[in-house]
Order: sequence, then C-alpha cells, then structure tokens
Amino acid sequence: MRGRLVVGNWKMNGGLAQNAALLSALAAGWRAGADREMAVCVPFPYLTQAKGLLAGSAIAWGAQDVSEHASGAFTGEVSAGMIAEFGARYALAGHSERRQFHGERDEQVAAKAKAALAAGLTPIVCVGETLAEREAEQTSAVVTRQIDAVIRALGTAMARTVVAYEPVWAIGTGRTASPEQAQEVHALLRGRLASAGAADVRLLYGGSVKAANAASLFGMPDVDGGLVGGASLDAREFLAIGLA
Ligand code: PGA
Repeated sequence: MRGRLVVGNWKMNGGLAQNAALLSALAAGWRAGADREMAVCVPFPYLTQAKGLLAGSAIAWGAQDVSEHASGAFTGEVSAGMIAEFGARYALAGHSERRQFHGERDEQVAAKAKAALAAGLTPIVCVGETLAEREAEQTSAVVTRQIDAVIRALGTAMARTVVAYEPVWAIGTGRTASPEQAQEVHALLRGRLASAGAADVRLLYGGSVKAANAASLFGMPDVDGGLVGGASLDAREFLAIGLA
C-alpha cells in the first residue's frame, strides 16, 4: 500500500535560530502514523541541525539537490554519500528551479537520482511543465519525456524512488492545480511507472499546497501526498498539511 508522504522544501530559506524553532515545533507536533510520513528537505549547511533536532522523531530529513558524481573535482557540488552521512533519507532531484536556473537536463536529473540511490538515499524526482508548455498542450509530452529519462536510467530501481509532479506555473504563485488537473497528470505518470514495474511509487503533488487545499488534492486516487515549499516554513501550516 502507498502511504501518505508530505515533504517540505525549504528552498534557500532559513537560519539557525529560525530553523531550531521550526524543527522543534514539527518534532513536538507531528503525530506519526503507520500510513503517513513527513520529511523536510533543508539547505546543505543545515543537515547537521536537522539531524540533531529530528533524530528520534518520526520526521525524516533530506537535501534539495545531489551531485550525479560520487567525488572529485566538482567545486561546489555535494555528493549523495556526504548527504547520507548526515542521516538523510531523501534528496530532491530535478526540481524545476534547478532545471530553470541551473540548466539541469533530463539525463542529468536521472544521473542524480541514480547517485542518490547508490548512496542509500531515496530520490524525489521532480517533473512538471511550464505555463507555456501547458498552454501549448505539451503537458503530457513534457512529463512523459522527463519521467521516461529517469526510468531508462534506473530500470527496476525506479520502484525505490518517489516522484513529484510540480507544474511550474503553480510553484510559489498561489495558483494551485485543481485536484482534477493534478490527478490527470498523476494518472499518466502512474501508467509510465506501472509499465516500468514501479506502480507503487509514491506520487506527490507540488505547487502552492496549503492546509486549505491539501485534503482535496490528497484525496485524488493517484496523489499520495505533497512537496510543499512556502507553507513548509510555518510549523502549524505544515503540520496541518501533513495531517490533511
Ligand atoms: P510552493 O513550492 O509550495 O511554494 O509552491 C513547491 C516547490 O517548489 O517544491
């Protein structure tokens, strides 16, 4: 059975004092259940702090990116092995802001997912179309291309990933996909995953998820939870999403 998973993506936000308050409030307020899981993906320098404040709680932590390389002359990069040493469970791969601002291509995203798996992390592979692509009716073609690149690289290991559908036009805009729009793309992705023997991968929706819309999105048959940006910085809001 696919349990519920809600993951916070802090993006480039935080500070030691602010994080301590947020992480402590999450650890104190989260009511774990066998069928639901919560995680936060923090900036690299805060992995130690996340480990310190979340170890022993039912909340997992992770990184927002991972190098496709294991080690070597890659200035500024952080390897999956390094992230794993901080007790992290997850690493995002191919978030649209990485694709948009850092030119990450499908094959590189696939290589990042593979590197994460090799180090024992669970990659959260992000896919999604831009507004221009949606308006040009390219949504299916774009997300199929993005997911297929990862399926080709991972093969049967695809079953050990998490996939997040994040329409770029819904990220940080307050403009959420309707539950029906999300479900339509999730059903397509589920089909691609099923054909790769990975039908039970948890499929998250991301893009302006809030406590007020979480239950209707998560109520859709192929939406297994959310990848939450802005609303994950507020403990009360994020806990409410986790319990939606
Ligand atoms: P948002 O971001 O919830 O602030 O829209 C989601 C994401 O980019 O992961």
